[in-house]
Amino acid sequence: MFENLRGRTAVVTGGARGLGYSLATALAGQGVNVALLDLLPIVGSSAARLTSEYGVEARGYEVDVTDADAVEAAFAAAESELGVPSLLVTAAGITIWGASVDVPADTWRKVLAVNLDGTFFAAQSFGRRALGAGVPASAIFISSMSGFIVNQPQFQASYNASKAAVSHLASSLAVEWAPSGVRVNAIAPGYFLSDMTREFTEANPELAAQWIGTIPAGRMGEPDDLHGLALYLASDASSYLTGQSIVIDGGYTAV
Ligand SMILES: NC(=O)c1ccc[n+]([C@@H]2O[C@H](COP(=O)([O-])OP(=O)(O)OC[C@H]3O[C@@H](n4cnc5c(N)ncnc54)[C@H](O)[C@@H]3O)[C@@H](O)[C@H]2O)c1
Repeated sequence: MFENLRGRTAVVTGGARGLGYSLATALAGQGVNVALLDLLPIVGSSAARLTSEYGVEARGYEVDVTDADAVEAAFAAAESELGVPSLLVTAAGITIWGASVDVPADTWRKVLAVNLDGTFFAAQSFGRRALGAGVPASAIFISSMSGFIVNQPQFQASYNASKAAVSHLASSLAVEWAPSGVRVNAIAPGYFLSDMTREFTEANPELAAQWIGTIPAGRMGEPDDLHGLALYLASDASSYLTGQSIVIDGGYTAV
């Protein structure tokens, strides 16, 4: 069903680990060549793992997505090494908890910078290449259900606001780029077990139990639970679907 993905090139931000790396394996499993962009120095070994496990071309670039010039340089390098990207997944993101009245200005700015600016800069570099390429292209932003609902008991206003903005950015770019055949959608996950959250839930089993008690599916999502939706959005099977944020949360927001 996703045969049209084979041989294409994807850029995945936040791809060194966590949901970004997991989504990169889903793409690599379909024969997609992948460029991973991440702050972490392990990004090179993550890319090497994609090559050894899936036989695709993969590269890792150590980049801070809040630096527009560095993002653009990484896209230029990926383009020359792997070909023009026609797929984008933006998974670089951070969460910082705190009562809003106490959150320092720098913390607020940092969350918005990584989650929103970083998504926009990657989309810009992607659009600069995909808009003129004359082939179908698809960008998938990893937003969050927190862009639509407010989690509790943890306070994370900056994260929630940033993810609401990421979802509306997807709609905005989708309208702007639809005439050029470039689609933009967002996936809005609920509570998922990533590298980051797995450590956290193991250290805080009571909070994990509280979260799980509110999820109709009775469990947190596994990274693989995103694969089918991501491949569908990436592939031409969804060629008339653009500008949407799709929540995938085991029923959490349906209650
Ligand atoms: N895990 C969840 O429950 C969940 C739920 C909803 C949305 N999300 C979103 O999914 C995405 C991935 O989260 P995760 O849970 O896998 O977390 P994670 O911490 O395991 O992965 C995030 C990755 O982004 C990278 N990153 C962070 N700041 C960066 C920067 N400035 N430049 C480049 N790379 C940077 C990190 O190094 C890391 O590799 C995030 O956008 C997160 O908000 C996660």
